[in-house]
Amino acid sequence: MIRRKLSLAECAARAAETLSKGILLTSCAGDKVNSMVIGWGTLGVNWNRPVFAAYVRVGRFTRELLDQNPEFTINMPLSEPDRNVIAVCGGKSGRDMDKLAACGLHTVPGETVSVPALREFPVTLECKVLYRQEQDPALLPEALQTRFYPADKDSSFTGSNRDAHVTYFGEIVSAYVLEPEEGGDEA
Ligand SMILES: Cc1cc2nc3c(=O)[nH]c(=O)nc-3n(C[C@H](O)[C@H](O)[C@H](O)COP(=O)(O)O)c2cc1C
Repeated sequence: MIRRKLSLAECAARAAETLSKGILLTSCAGDKVNSMVIGWGTLGVNWNRPVFAAYVRVGRFTRELLDQNPEFTINMPLSEPDRNVIAVCGGKSGRDMDKLAACGLHTVPGETVSVPALREFPVTLECKVLYRQEQDPALLPEALQTRFYPADKDSSFTGSNRDAHVTYFGEIVSAYVLEPEEGGDEA
């Protein structure tokens, strides 16, 4: 595969188009590589650097991996995302299974980070965490607290639950789309 570089504007356009359908955040630590679906994300500039901010609830396995290894990749599809990938990576925890193997997702080594990109979700942002901050839901308007932090749903619930989000501000250190090499034998 080759990495065709993307500008920040191209990344922002792709993120705006795909986030509402679910994109992937991949993290790794030790011998675990794991992808989760995210529907929230902010792409912009912080501390004069290009940043992707991801919002990961405290109880997610992804949060554990990110705290062990503060690097991640954002993986976006070229067209509609595979519904099975969204169901598995957005509804099961990497604590219990190897989601990449279950979904037939193939890793490609990162260019500048220890976390891989994904061949099937080829639009890639490589990010290094500059700052992390746990949110305080009590500071939100009450309607949002009730809607997004239901007290009767514990951490194990893969949808909205009582856990706060941790914001991970990742500096975008490389952005590209994975493409098959010309003359290569990739299908
Ligand atoms: C469309 C969609 C968007 C989601 N967005 C987020 C999100 O932005 N933050 C979050 O913490 N969980 C989000 N989730 C839930 C996680 O993807 C889900 O809980 C996943 O199982 C966590 O995996 P992990 O335990 O392997 O980290 C979303 C799920 C779906 C289906």
